[in-house]
Formats: sequence, structure tokens, C-alpha cells
Amino acid sequence: IRYKAELAVEINRLKTERNAVILGHNYMEPILYHAISDFIGDSLELSRKAAATDKDVIVFCGVKFMAETAKILNPTKTVLLPSDAGCSLAASITAKDVRDLKARFPGVPVVTYVNTYADVKAESDICCTSGNAVAVVESLGAQTIIFLPDEFLASNVARETGKHIIFPSLTKPTVPDSQLDYQMIGWKGRCEVHEKYTVEDIRTIREQYPDVLILAHPECSPEVTAASDFSGSTMAMIRYVENTHAPHYLLLTECSMGDNIAAANPEKNMLRLCMVRCPHMNQITMENTLKSLKQNKIKIEVPEEIRVKAVRAVERMIAIG
Ligand code: 13P
Ligand code: SF4
Repeated sequence: IRYKAELAVEINRLKTERNAVILGHNYMEPILYHAISDFIGDSLELSRKAAATDKDVIVFCGVKFMAETAKILNPTKTVLLPSDAGCSLAASITAKDVRDLKARFPGVPVVTYVNTYADVKAESDICCTSGNAVAVVESLGAQTIIFLPDEFLASNVARETGKHIIFPSLTKPTVPDSQLDYQMIGWKGRCEVHEKYTVEDIRTIREQYPDVLILAHPECSPEVTAASDFSGSTMAMIRYVENTHAPHYLLLTECSMGDNIAAANPEKNMLRLCMVRCPHMNQITMENTLKSLKQNKIKIEVPEEIRVKAVRAVERMIAIG
């Protein structure tokens, strides 16, 4: 504990010396979350903080797509990521995949989840996060949209907006496009953490705790979110727990967030079903955050021709809220 406390003191000292801000995602382990982050939040809130900061350096305690979004929004700042932390969703789609979809479904607006890399955002009309996906889709007022790349988030949004979704195979079309019936076109990317929760998990917990309130992130399957009591972004889940009084709570999301909420709400009875720690978020430690500030690494760069296209999609999203 003493060693961690000394690390925290040194990080906070360097943060002041370098005129830096530390943005910590809700999935950071408790010490990063509570001891060194200036702002904590979900992807949407941290994007807003990144856009608004007047500090010289932004250290992103999160994953690469989040740090890239900060650079896209605030390009004159030095943006540092303590470790090369990826994301299974961001890795599931390339800019060429998006171009191929646009060529196959011309004129259909493309909504892209922020859990993607800058070149994919650059091919998109508008981004969204789990916190505003429904609002973004509804803001377009379009009959048909392409929604990438999370299969489950897309299916959850389709259900909420009453749209019929399909996942067309680009390699082996089984039905001619003219015969397809769709209002949303999705992609088969998945979060390797949230895809693991099942309706069977929910059934087992409800048998043992019939009065449990279950919250699921919208990257969980539509069957899991339908069987839960609430679904929302990481920040929406935190607020929901804070503003309700249930005998027991169960979070179907990344385990560190459960630790953080339990620590912030000691009077609440949080059941633990901590099956999965995101291996990418888990790469961020106190040690590499300190190293990042000392050595100015890993410096995030986005080529300007990509950034100017991506920023349109991200700013359009932020304007919606
Ligand atoms: P939030 O925007 O809800 O924080 O989600 C980010 C993420 O990576 C969830 O797995
Ligand atoms: Fe990506 Fe899932 Fe990890 Fe979030 S929890 S960073 S979506 S792999």
C-alpha cells in the first residue's frame, strides 16, 4: 500500500509539473480511479473533458480508441496512453470494411460506435457511445442506417428504436440485396467482456436473490439486456445505483467498475459476478502511468487528413449529447 501511495504522490507531482490532466475510464482499477484521475467517466463524458481541457498534456487511463478520440478533438495537446491497450470491438472493423459497406448500400448514413479507430470514424457520418446511441440514431430521422461495429449494441438500439436489423455477409451474400428487408445494417463485432454474460447467469442469480436489481451494459446480448432491469452506459449504471434503493444489485459489466461502485456506495449491497476483467483496460497500471508522464509515451498521433474527417463525426455526436 505504501508503494502505491508513493507512486500516486509521484504521479500527481509530475502531473502538476507537466501541466497534465488524467482522464480515467470507469473500468480503471480503484487506485487509478480514486488516487490519480482528475476526471472519471464513460466514453462520452471523457470525450467532452478531453475537448474542453486547457492543460498541455492529456494522459488517458483507458484504451487506445479513447485516447485517439481525445487527440481528434483536441489536436494541439500531447495525448499519452500508458500502454498500447486495444479493444476487441475496435479491432473488429477496418476503414476498408466501412467503404465496402457504403459502396454496397449507397447513400445510407453510417453511425459508428466510438469504440473504433480514427480511420473508421473518418469514414462515418456520425459517432455514438453507449450513452447516446438511441438519441444519435433518432436524430438522423433516416429510414435506414448502417450501425457499426458492435452486433449487440446495434441489436439493442434496433429494439429500442423499433428498427429491423440485418447483418449481411459481405463475402458470401445468401440473398440478393434487392430482396433484403432491413432498416438497420449491422456488423458482427463484439466486446469480448460483455458477450460472456448469459441469460442463464441472470436466472441463477434471480433464483438465489429474487429481489436483485440487475444492470447490464448495452454491449451485452439483447437477450441479456431484456432479462435485466436496466441497461445503460457505465456512467448511467453508476447513476442508477446511486439513485435507487434496492436490497441487492448485480452489474453485468467489467469487474473493476463493480469494485469502484461498491467503494463509492458502501451502504449498498452489490453482488459480485466478476467473471471478466477487460484484458486491455487491465494493461493500464500506476507504474506505466508514471512512466508515461516521465518518458512522454505512448504519444498518440492521428494523421491530419484522417483527423479532419473523423472530427466531423465525433463533434456531430457531441452536439447531440
Ligand atoms: P462506456 O462508454 O459505457 O463507458 O463504455 C466503454 C466501454 O468500453 C464499455 O465496454
Ligand atoms: Fe473494448 Fe470490451 Fe474492453 Fe470495453 S470492455 S475496451 S468494449 S474489449
